[in-house]
Amino acid sequence: MEKLVGEIKQLCKEKDAVILAHYYVDDAIQEIADYVGDSFYLAKVAKADTHKTLVFCGVTFMGESANILNPEKTVLMPADDAVCPMALMVDPKTIAEMRQKYDDLAVVCYINSMADIKALSDVCVTSSNALKIVKSLPNKNIFFIPDGNLGRFVAQEIPEKNIILNPGYCHVHTTITAEDVEKMLDEHPDSEILVHPESKKEVCDLADFVGSTKEIIEYAAKSNAKSFIICTEKGVLHELKNVAPDKEFYFVGARQICPNMKKLTLEKVKACLVNNAPVARVPEDIRLAALKPLDRMLELAK
Ligand code: 13P
Ligand code: SF4
Repeated sequence: MEKLVGEIKQLCKEKDAVILAHYYVDDAIQEIADYVGDSFYLAKVAKADTHKTLVFCGVTFMGESANILNPEKTVLMPADDAVCPMALMVDPKTIAEMRQKYDDLAVVCYINSMADIKALSDVCVTSSNALKIVKSLPNKNIFFIPDGNLGRFVAQEIPEKNIILNPGYCHVHTTITAEDVEKMLDEHPDSEILVHPESKKEVCDLADFVGSTKEIIEYAAKSNAKSFIICTEKGVLHELKNVAPDKEFYFVGARQICPNMKKLTLEKVKACLVNNAPVARVPEDIRLAALKPLDRMLELAK
């Protein structure tokens, strides 16, 4: 493995490349990455970094967003079959129907979506900025796509808006049940419960804190509690151990693993640098249309 890591570092130098990784990818990749973070942080880094090539270790909507924001850079996607199923859980026809039905409608699109859907939306959000951005919109009616759980969480926190939900969901977060969490709490009663908003209502209702992966990690580092029940994908454990080595972290079941994020391997990172492929590239007309809601997100989240 040391040899492989050395080869990847050398290739990055030769190709003027940096590696961006989401917290859900394997530890070995998080360790060699130049940047590790949540979806919002990675989108900002993709825009701000000045290297010629970005190696995006995450699911395909993340690579697409990096390409939309930076058409002049090469965005390598080591695993171009790592598709987030939730990103496909809304279709253009439903968006058109909602626009017909409501005059004053903002289509708010979770970044976990494909470029053609972003292109039809008014603004993008991530789990760390959704509340701030939805609050700031002038519209009363919001069609929140594709994640029905994040949409429901936003609706609960912003009751003054009429938030129309879409039935999309994350198959990883929705496997977590309130019963699992309560059982774990019985075993570790001093623990705080930290929950990602892609989780079901019954789980969010038990939480001491609801936030994005990065926010969960920051919360655990700052909290006076010594142990935590973590309701998100297990990959966050790598950074949790880095920032809070003396604390305990419990996961409620074996299903808190995203199979698509786990498609990323060091071997694939090396192969994409050698082959200059696969790349994330969105057709120019869709890219220009999808750039508007992404840029608006970056502006409103400031
Ligand atoms: P964040 O890292 O933005 O919280 O997103 C979680 C996720 O499911 C990414 O696919
Ligand atoms: Fe998609 Fe869920 Fe995996 Fe995130 S954890 S990439 S939302 S399937």
